[in-house]
Amino acid sequence: MNRLAPSRDRLRIAIQKSGRLGTPARELLERLGLRFQESRDRLFCHGEVEPIDLLLVRDDDIPGLIAEGVCDLGIVGRNVLSEFRAENGRDPATAPAEWQPLGFGGCRLSLAVPEGLNYATPLDLAGRRIATSYPALLAEWLRSQAVAADVVTLSGSVEIAPRLGQADLICDLVSTGGTLVANQLREVEVILRSEAVLAAPGTPLPGLRGELAGQLRGRLAAAIGQRNSRLLMLNARRSQLSELLPLLPEGEPPSVMALDGDADGVAIKALCRGTVSWQQMERMKAAGASQLLVLPLEQMLP
Ligand code: PRP
Ligand code: ZN
Repeated sequence: MNRLAPSRDRLRIAIQKSGRLGTPARELLERLGLRFQESRDRLFCHGEVEPIDLLLVRDDDIPGLIAEGVCDLGIVGRNVLSEFRAENGRDPATAPAEWQPLGFGGCRLSLAVPEGLNYATPLDLAGRRIATSYPALLAEWLRSQAVAADVVTLSGSVEIAPRLGQADLICDLVSTGGTLVANQLREVEVILRSEAVLAAPGTPLPGLRGELAGQLRGRLAAAIGQRNSRLLMLNARRSQLSELLPLLPEGEPPSVMALDGDADGVAIKALCRGTVSWQQMERMKAAGASQLLVLPLEQMLP
């Protein structure tokens, strides 16, 4: 059997093999409690906890793999997904679509001009040559601005195109802005704000894969919402509660539980947003708290 043919009962997620999004994508899935065993060719990762496998590929291939049904879901930049949709059409029944933003890999697709090229409005682009790896998104944006410019499609090293005389300006991803500075380019227009997203096929997945995909989406959304949350646990005397409870870090209302065989003792459990500082812990200890524990969250179902 072809290992890459869609299997009936296992969910297959395409992620970037290397590059900006690959490692954080895998770390996010592992934070949900999933574990993977990499194949020797580093193309396939077998899911060991749930029937969820990974395919490690070039990011630009991910939307196509979902559209063809080779993969069920993908973790990919909105920039790559949007370019695929702009190029191949947005038929809701067939086009892979954004299912859940994932809150990492933030960047923007921007126009940038070399020193010496004046830019005030999009109309200044008329007749200019613009180098990009995102020709469909750029062409759409130019149409929306009613400007006619030449789109020069390059697969990489877009930032050096003006110096090589291939183009007058560029339309490329900007993350820190370091690449633009190094190439003496000035960002003048943002065309798309991007981050990593969970991409899914237009038509819902059937059967068990559909169920798993829905669960995964829910857990991803929850994990992103609780990304900075911690579980705080501590013991105290009941008489100290009025002084202690106001010192708990911001978060959900705490649970206070009686301790077996200790009439005056309580255990407190609180879900906190953000980190718990040393100072906060010292203040709670001074107010009578003992056995203070701050735990990271792995999974949570409200
Ligand atoms: C992008 C883009 C720039 C660089 C910008 O490539 O093409 O070269 O990142 O980042 P900076 O603003 O932090 O300097 P990237 O490697 O992300 O992906 P790609 O090769 O798939 O385009
Ligand atoms: Zn790429």
